[in-house]
Amino acid sequence: MDFKEELIKKSTLINEEIKKYLKREDCPERVLNEAMEYSLMAGGKRIRPVLIMAAYELFKDDVQEVFPFAVAMEMVHTFSLIHDDLPGIDNDDYRRGKLTNHKKFNEATAILAGDSLLNYAYNILIKNIINSNSNSERKMEALKELSNGIDRMIAGEYIDTEYEGKEISSQYLEYMHENKTGALITASVRIGALLAGASLEDLNKLTIYSERIGLAFQIRDDILSEIGDSKILGKPVGNDKERGKCTYTTKYGLETAQKMLNEITNEAVNIMDSYEKGAFLKELALYIANRNK
Ligand code: IPE
Ligand code: IPE
Ligand code: MG
Ligand code: MG
Repeated sequence: MDFKEELIKKSTLINEEIKKYLKREDCPERVLNEAMEYSLMAGGKRIRPVLIMAAYELFKDDVQEVFPFAVAMEMVHTFSLIHDDLPGIDNDDYRRGKLTNHKKFNEATAILAGDSLLNYAYNILIKNIINSNSNSERKMEALKELSNGIDRMIAGEYIDTEYEGKEISSQYLEYMHENKTGALITASVRIGALLAGASLEDLNKLTIYSERIGLAFQIRDDILSEIGDSKILGKPVGNDKERGKCTYTTKYGLETAQKMLNEITNEAVNIMDSYEKGAFLKELALYIANRNK
């Protein structure tokens, strides 16, 4: 298996699936729907849906079973980005290589497009569960997982804003990252595993893997916010420092942050070594640590 090819294959599948849910009817709130589509289809990496699929495929082959959850997760993630970029939070002008939602539309529309994506995610899943004649219990468990992840993501985002311009303890910094970014990543892996009916032992192992890559994902984000290329990233560089954000690089310096990232990634890689079908998720951990986008 070629990792890059597999990643493209999975994200392409997700994109096709998301397109089925776009609201394009002519109605008075047409621009709100356009704003949702604008951010949703702006070219995200689709890492969280890919994680749901890959975790499921450790155990089962019929991956289309997870598609509603994969789509819902990407909607939730996109909602978090639209709100994260708002003037009251990070006040950023570019995201996914395009103007941020509030810059392209306006602040009210961006707030409501985010709200609407969050609600749409639940709506899709509730319908999926009501209409399914099998595995309803697993699906309910997975829905609970998503809801918990969203709760934690919002808590992490709150801490991020509260500590802007202030000193943060290493404990709180880790907590913030594990929540604002790690929570949806952990939820993605656990949703995939839960839907596949993974054992408690596997679920626990995968949870540790997901917590490692979740923290690694945000440390890499912190590093890229300093030394990344904004053209490749599709979002600004240097903005964390400008706003006095608490990050792994501002707390520990680039070199130590990089060392921590390597160690955490190794832990994730080691866990995946014990899975017969773990090659993709192992490569994904390395990709997350080394990505430039
Ligand atoms: C960006 O997430 C926000 C963080 C949690 C660091 P991604 O890097 O996954 O963003 P997209 O979806 O590819 O745009
Ligand atoms: C990402 O926070 C976490 C969420 C959006 C929930 P950041 O503010 O650090 O991420 P970027 O750099 O804007 O993508
Ligand atoms: Mg932020
Ligand atoms: Mg931000």
